Amino acid sequence: MGFISTSIARKVAMALSGLFLVFFLGQHFVINISSVIDPDTFNSWSHFMGTNGLVQFLLQPVLIFGVVFHFIMGFILEYQNRKARAINYKSYKGNSNSSWASRNMLISGVVILAFLGLHFYDFWVPEIVHKYIETHPEDPSRYFPELVHKFESPVRVGLYTLAFILLIFHLWHGFSSSFQSVGFNNKYSRALKGFTRLYAVLIPLGFVFIALYHHFNQLPH
Ligand code: HEM
Repeated sequence: MGFISTSIARKVAMALSGLFLVFFLGQHFVINISSVIDPDTFNSWSHFMGTNGLVQFLLQPVLIFGVVFHFIMGFILEYQNRKARAINYKSYKGNSNSSWASRNMLISGVVILAFLGLHFYDFWVPEIVHKYIETHPEDPSRYFPELVHKFESPVRVGLYTLAFILLIFHLWHGFSSSFQSVGFNNKYSRALKGFTRLYAVLIPLGFVFIALYHHFNQLPH
């Protein structure tokens, strides 16, 4: 990777792409929680996101690039950290030196990536087929029933929940350390760390809630 050649630059790039994804996750949560509060709002927000040219042809490709970039960079960083640790040092004491979350970013990241594969297959692929391949006429009220129907299967709800729990661990370490990587260090650091930890727990649990809520509130067929 000639364009990001120092390890500091790679860490900063990792942090910035992670912060971008955290921001996406927040807005994704707001749209999805509206499906629990008011289906009409969910339908109209989804319709806007699904038909607006700027969202479709600029923000969506940027988001997909962000996901792929974060994933590839994560692997490169992990590989280099392992290489730098010349001998797998004997004094490594596991949890007395660092948290489970920080030592297992690759594992939680790979589970989240696998979830994204399933999630794209569930929502994104049918959406692309619906709009650009089968070219159905627009129907702004279809999003809510489609979403509820997706959570009918207990297997899918179980897999989603597992991924959301690993997302807690991934964000627990990743979100707070991203500010360190970009050099944010001042009197607000402690408060910011508290906020990142709260976000890391509440947003994924919120997603769990959405999945369970729709699972137990299926619409009549
Ligand atoms: C209960 C939880 C969730 C629900 C109900 C949900 C719902 C949706 C829906 C309806 C779409 C389709 C958007 C479209 O029409 O293109 C979507 C796309 C997407 N979701 Fe989720 N989502 C959930 C959790 C998550 C989580 C935890 C992540 C990230 C870790 C995530 C990442 C994405 C991404 C990257 C896309 C593609 C966005 C795009 O380019 O359109 N989602 N989600």
